Amino acid sequence: MHIDVFTLFPEHFEWFRSQRHVRGALAAGSELRLINYRDTTPLSGGQVDDAPYGGGAGMVMRVDVVDAALTAAYGGERSAMRVVALTPGGRLFDEALASELAVEQRLALLCGRYEGFDERVVEHLCTDAISIGRYVLSGGELAAMVVCDAVLRKLPGALGDETSAIEESFSEALSGAPEYPHYTRPASYRGWQVPEVLLSGDHERVRQWRLARSRERLGEKQG
Ligand code: 6GU
Repeated sequence: MHIDVFTLFPEHFEWFRSQRHVRGALAAGSELRLINYRDTTPLSGGQVDDAPYGGGAGMVMRVDVVDAALTAAYGGERSAMRVVALTPGGRLFDEALASELAVEQRLALLCGRYEGFDERVVEHLCTDAISIGRYVLSGGELAAMVVCDAVLRKLPGALGDETSAIEESFSEALSGAPEYPHYTRPASYRGWQVPEVLLSGDHERVRQWRLARSRERLGEKQG
């Protein structure tokens, strides 16, 4: 998987890139490239945004600036790849969408700043608009890291092999993330006991128990 993140703040991703599981995914052949809109802006003085038509507070990322960055990276032909605008009004990001993106060979994630993008970016230059939740962040950078994290950990080599296989079977059975509770040592702490079944060594009983707990939690979430 090759992910390009377009941003005005590539340095915000330094910490993210240094995480062990991200380094692991990158070592296993994935790529994460940071592209600064400012490097290819056709405007003078490194300008990338402008005041909104109709008035109002804040600044809007210009469509010509975003187009120039995409063209510099991919040339004219980018019909085959998914180009994602990170924007609070987009499709809600969840495990199913992460799986959908994880099968792509290339992915472009576009971060907007200030008041976001000129709507023509979303309409004409992107294939997807994604939001990580119903709240407003001051930019798409954190959202891009969330998407990268969730996607990269699905790729082979990102996690311990057996672990990811088990998680996968649960995700599929439950069409979502595994939600069963986890415990580790000590088995008893201040009288709070780890469920006996987890200490039994009976893998099938453990599997059944986890499946049942996951279903319970899924039921609670869905009301
Ligand atoms: Cl993708 N961007 C911004 N600016 N705010 C958000 C978001 C994205 N997702 C939730 N809030």
